[in-house]
Amino acid sequence: MELIDGKKIAGEIKEELAAEIARRAGEGKKIPHLVAVLVGDDAASETYVANKVKACQAVGMKSTGLRFPASVTEEQLLEVIDRLNDDDDVDGYIVQLPLPRHIPEEKILGRIDPAKDVDGFHPCNVGKMVLGLPAYLPATPAGIVELLARHGIETAGKHCVVVGRSNIVGTPLSILMSRKAPRANCTVTLCHSRTPDIKTYTSQADILVVAIGSPRFITADMVKEGAVVVDVGMHREPSATAKSGFRLVGDVDFDAVAPRCSAITPVPGGVGPMTIASLLRNTLLAVAR
Ligand code: GUN
Repeated sequence: MELIDGKKIAGEIKEELAAEIARRAGEGKKIPHLVAVLVGDDAASETYVANKVKACQAVGMKSTGLRFPASVTEEQLLEVIDRLNDDDDVDGYIVQLPLPRHIPEEKILGRIDPAKDVDGFHPCNVGKMVLGLPAYLPATPAGIVELLARHGIETAGKHCVVVGRSNIVGTPLSILMSRKAPRANCTVTLCHSRTPDIKTYTSQADILVVAIGSPRFITADMVKEGAVVVDVGMHREPSATAKSGFRLVGDVDFDAVAPRCSAITPVPGGVGPMTIASLLRNTLLAVAR
């Protein structure tokens, strides 16, 4: 069994991006500026945004975090979006999801200037992705495609089973993996919470990607011997032995599943760092455009 080291591969990508940003700076070109909008006080979102801001600084990008209380109104948030759209110093920005329940997500995402939508969540960018046109690709699915490619995993002709149909991960990944393109060309099955007897499908996967949002959902009996497993889940679990008092676990029961796999991503250190690397790449694309 091989560990797919997302932290290392993301580190390589970040070095490439840092070199490109330094080259641009040397030519007197603009340093990319990413803004991250965070609404409310969801602990996981706070960590994700802090990591994104930190990663920008590490590659020489400018980054700004904008925080708003959960009580912010839809109108106030739309005003923030309009300001970011008009601000020439901002090359790209993201609105961290989930948003508080009283704010309609699609209305906020639909207001983002598609040219600054480095998360690739605007309907224009989603539509372009579906058609295979140049677009900002959503960070986690793009990171998974890149991770598999850089680890040397062949995808053409393979059966890729995706578990979870979110707009952020499962649905776009199912589209990317089935495209007629290098790093894709899979036969894709998309499973979700209403799929009866999910094991029937997961146990046929050559490549199994799990983004269902349920800790240790995938057990050893659900995985084919020799499969490649990609775990998108990230959950905090109390731990008596960890210094912090908790440990992170994914959607896959790693200890039981790993021995059956030809390769598997760990949590943490698998998909998470690749999501950030993809976001940085999109931001560099945004300034270059
Ligand atoms: N919430 C979970 N993943 C993501 C992501 O990739 N982008 C944003 N904006 N919110 C998220």
